[in-house]
Amino acid sequence: MGLGTEASSVAETALLANPLREGTRVRKTPAPCSIVIFGASGDLTERKLIPALYYLAREHLLPVSFTVTGCAKSPYTTETFREKARQAVQSHLKIPASEAPFLESFAQSLFYISDDFGDVKAYSLLDSMLDRFDRERGTGGNRLFYLATPPSFFPVIVQHLGRAGLAKTRDPEKNWTRIIIEKPFGRDHASAQELNRTVTSVFDEEQVFRIDHYLGKETVQNLLVFRFANGIYEPIWNRRYIDQVQIAVAESLGVENRGAYYEEAGLLRDMIQNHVLQLLSLVAMEPPARFAGTAVRDEKAKVLRAIRPIPPDAVNDLAVRGQYGEGFAGGKKVSAYRSEPKVSPSSVTETYAALKLFIDNWRWADVPFYLRSGKRLAKRVSEITVQFRSVPHLMFRDAIEDIIEPNVMSLRIQPNEGIAVRFGAKLPGPAMRIRPVQMEFRYGESFGAPPPTAYETLLLDCMLGDNTLFNRDDAVELAWELVMPILDRWKNDGERDLAFYEAGSWGPAEADRLLQRDGRRWQRL
Ligand code: BG6
Repeated sequence: MGLGTEASSVAETALLANPLREGTRVRKTPAPCSIVIFGASGDLTERKLIPALYYLAREHLLPVSFTVTGCAKSPYTTETFREKARQAVQSHLKIPASEAPFLESFAQSLFYISDDFGDVKAYSLLDSMLDRFDRERGTGGNRLFYLATPPSFFPVIVQHLGRAGLAKTRDPEKNWTRIIIEKPFGRDHASAQELNRTVTSVFDEEQVFRIDHYLGKETVQNLLVFRFANGIYEPIWNRRYIDQVQIAVAESLGVENRGAYYEEAGLLRDMIQNHVLQLLSLVAMEPPARFAGTAVRDEKAKVLRAIRPIPPDAVNDLAVRGQYGEGFAGGKKVSAYRSEPKVSPSSVTETYAALKLFIDNWRWADVPFYLRSGKRLAKRVSEITVQFRSVPHLMFRDAIEDIIEPNVMSLRIQPNEGIAVRFGAKLPGPAMRIRPVQMEFRYGESFGAPPPTAYETLLLDCMLGDNTLFNRDDAVELAWELVMPILDRWKNDGERDLAFYEAGSWGPAEADRLLQRDGRRWQRL
């Protein structure tokens, strides 16, 4: 049984062949602009930003006149930066040889400034370069600054942009200046507030685009379409019909070469405070009046505000943390977190966290939201599962012995993006026996083309001035406020109650007990 087959007949239209260009969101081409990437020699630029910009250029979604200026301390020349970009595109997008001329013309729009962006002097060079691009390359006075540096540089870059006059739009009637700020946005509530203060003392809130790449994922946007463009589920999307919601973001990779960052962050800061809570707010929010920045962001903020705060003395009843030990991943033996490069051998940093939350409002009162995320788990899968209440009375006598599983809807964020609904069906035969079966929609089958990555969507949205899928200052602070009691408690507790789990497993047994206490269990992923 597959909804996918039926839906794919719709996919005959050329529209569906290119979801980004002509899909559910009407696309305009942004005005000419200069993009400036701080942290241009880093991993994010190579893995995500350059491939995303290339993809947009190839799909004719970038303006005809655009430049990308990489800024970093690494002593590259413009030619080295271009060469690195060519390699990044080749290795991440695997383009055919026939695209080589296009790649070359894309590379000609890239420039590089090697300087210390902690030093104010660097900004006058940048300023004159951007002016020159406006004159010589028609970039029209529009500027997009992208902060992809380690977070400790965010405030200083913002302040220097302000002092150099680069944060102000020359002619607000005609031009724009915007800034994208990568995560992590602060490392606790106080530092996020401080960063918000710094940023908004230099830029207006409308110029600021706080990125959470999960919001740009096609499946995450589809969550909104699924909920608010379809009539069937919204009437039952509440405490009357829903028993519990689970959100899982599992990764099979370990910390790779990010040990130094991760030691400072840990799972709760790296994944739950941002990505997982964003997913929660989209699943739980009230229908916004319009798909537009303020309307959507207001509703998301309301959900975060309604989450029941975690009292410090209840942290251990509502949250579990774990750290991976040795184990196996992809059939290979892998080391424990404590033996990873740049990780302390006695580290108490969590690589796994599970949480139980409640949203105190009319829609969700008493419905538990169980969240979990971890590194080095059994597989990479992100999924939201909504479990509905069981039927109040079962009338089939033959089925008395059968285990009647409640209906579950799984919204698969990645991989194998799609939506599945589990329900009971009659087992063929003379008796009235019931077995769970599944009805599925799969993106791959229905739309034929792989979805664009989150960065393509979000970069384009920013150039078009659409902040719907970006975080507002209040949401970031609310999310920090929520996790602070947990972070504080775990910091004080040191190694106490840190549960170890085998790499390649589904996390510590303590996380299973969190649900068992409620007579529930984690959904199988
Ligand atoms: C990042 C985290 O924000 O998200 C990483 O810093 C994590 O630790 C990554 O691996 C996961 O993103 P995705 O898109 O691969 O699920």
